[in-house]
Amino acid sequence: MSAWPFFDLKLHLGAVDLAIPTDDVVLQLAELAEEPIVPAGKEEWLPFLANRATDRNERLRRVMQFHWSTRANHSIDSWQLAFGIYFRGRPQGTISLYSEQFTNRRIVRTGSWIVQHAQGAGLGTTARSMLIEMSMRLLEAKYVESRYVETNAASARVSEKLGYEPNGYHIDDRLNPAPIIRNVILTRDRWKDVRPAQLDKLHIEGFDACKPLLVHDGMESS
Ligand SMILES: CC(C)(COP(=O)(O)OP(=O)(O)OC[C@H]1O[C@@H](n2cnc3c(N)ncnc32)[C@H](O)[C@@H]1OP(=O)(O)O)[C@@H](O)C(=O)NCCC(=O)NCCS
Repeated sequence: MSAWPFFDLKLHLGAVDLAIPTDDVVLQLAELAEEPIVPAGKEEWLPFLANRATDRNERLRRVMQFHWSTRANHSIDSWQLAFGIYFRGRPQGTISLYSEQFTNRRIVRTGSWIVQHAQGAGLGTTARSMLIEMSMRLLEAKYVESRYVETNAASARVSEKLGYEPNGYHIDDRLNPAPIIRNVILTRDRWKDVRPAQLDKLHIEGFDACKPLLVHDGMESS
């Protein structure tokens, strides 16, 4: 078994693949940030600070450091799996699945971005649905959460399409002016009702070797 089994974790659905990037791929993903990820003036949409930098090299470095930090900071009680999103084999963005105290709480959250020229074609919805399905099916998550800046209509729509329900809001005080962040949540029961049938074809490789690094053994969900 690999000492870092996440490199072998792969999800495949039609033309879309998700995989944890090795360093050469981290560089390719960073290069996607050559172009700003959101239109000028909409920087507040990003839920994280990494891609807001206006200097190109600074933006690339922050994307790289983000991926490296997820490895360096991984523990069973606090983890973030930062996947590359590939369409027909070409990297198009990233989507993260993260959790704190997963064994007890059974909650995961996602965050993502896709290169501007590939936005609006269904990739974000497909990638998110793949991670929801892995979380519900293999990690036995009870809840999947997401958040979006309230003016971010594309992110709101992805959550709506996948059946998330409103779960309050908070203010992100890292920015000035501080945007309103909408929280949304998807329960296991709701997912059973809204789950897209195409997920029957989702193929996941390498999960069993990762599971002991994500949830404490012998404390399965009841
Ligand atoms: C948010 C994001 C990840 C979604 O991925 P995507 O591939 O663009 O999403 P999809 O194409 O699957 O779905 C987007 C939906 O939003 C809709 N949408 C897009 N822009 C919209 C807008 N300005 N107003 C209303 N709806 C909009 C699309 O029409 C689509 O809905 P539909 O299928 O009903 O037509 C991607 O747009 C992105 O990276 N945006 C910039 C970074 C970001 O905002 N990240 C998320 C922060 S929480």
